[in-house]
Amino acid sequence: MIIAPSLLASDFGRFARETERAHKAKADWLHLDIMDGHFVPNISFGPEVVRVIRPITKMTFDVHLMCSKPEILLESFARAGADLMTVHVELGDRVTQLLWKIRSLGVKVGLAVNPPTAIANAQPYLDQIDLLLVMTVNPGFGGQPFIHEMLPKIQQAADWRRERNLNYRIEVDGGINQQTAVECAKAGADTFVSGTALFGHRQLGRAVKKMRDAVSANARER
Ligand code: DX5
Ligand code: ZN
Repeated sequence: MIIAPSLLASDFGRFARETERAHKAKADWLHLDIMDGHFVPNISFGPEVVRVIRPITKMTFDVHLMCSKPEILLESFARAGADLMTVHVELGDRVTQLLWKIRSLGVKVGLAVNPPTAIANAQPYLDQIDLLLVMTVNPGFGGQPFIHEMLPKIQQAADWRRERNLNYRIEVDGGINQQTAVECAKAGADTFVSGTALFGHRQLGRAVKKMRDAVSANARER
């Protein structure tokens, strides 16, 4: 089980210190939300921030690209220190090439599905990815409520993984707190992004451990 605090919910004036906090909290991954003001109605930060925080920790940097043109950013993020890069299935016929490009940069490959998009759209790519991200809010902002209707998508992703003997991680992102994380774990998720519910805690280490223990105790059989 992987717990990935999202830097989007941290103090933007102190990215370095917040990264150190996540490191000391023994979080597994750090989730980095990249928003371009076009694919989503918000802007976050770019490769330079990733480059600056890279020396602070060896934690996996999980870069979630909510961008209309990720092709122009992939190299910069790989060079800045991304370990995994996720693009959205909503980009349609460009997806195959994007996944291939990410792989060619020596970085792990993720594919994300927005709430209004059918999970079936991701099906053709399942054997080409390391991670399938089921969005549990409409992307763009932290602090939104979890959309429960996404749980069947997680179950479907887990069923496909078992039936086809594949190995991709199933990540959830948006409105994840102790309770909703458990619901997602029961459905088959194994990788949990959480912004507000983790970075909002004074004792991040405790919150991370609590979430990891809760999802581990409720993991669906593989
Ligand atoms: C949403 C982002 C999320 C966000 C989650 O657009 O993709 O990663 O940081 O934040 P919370 O956990 O606050 O919903
Ligand atoms: Zn995200």
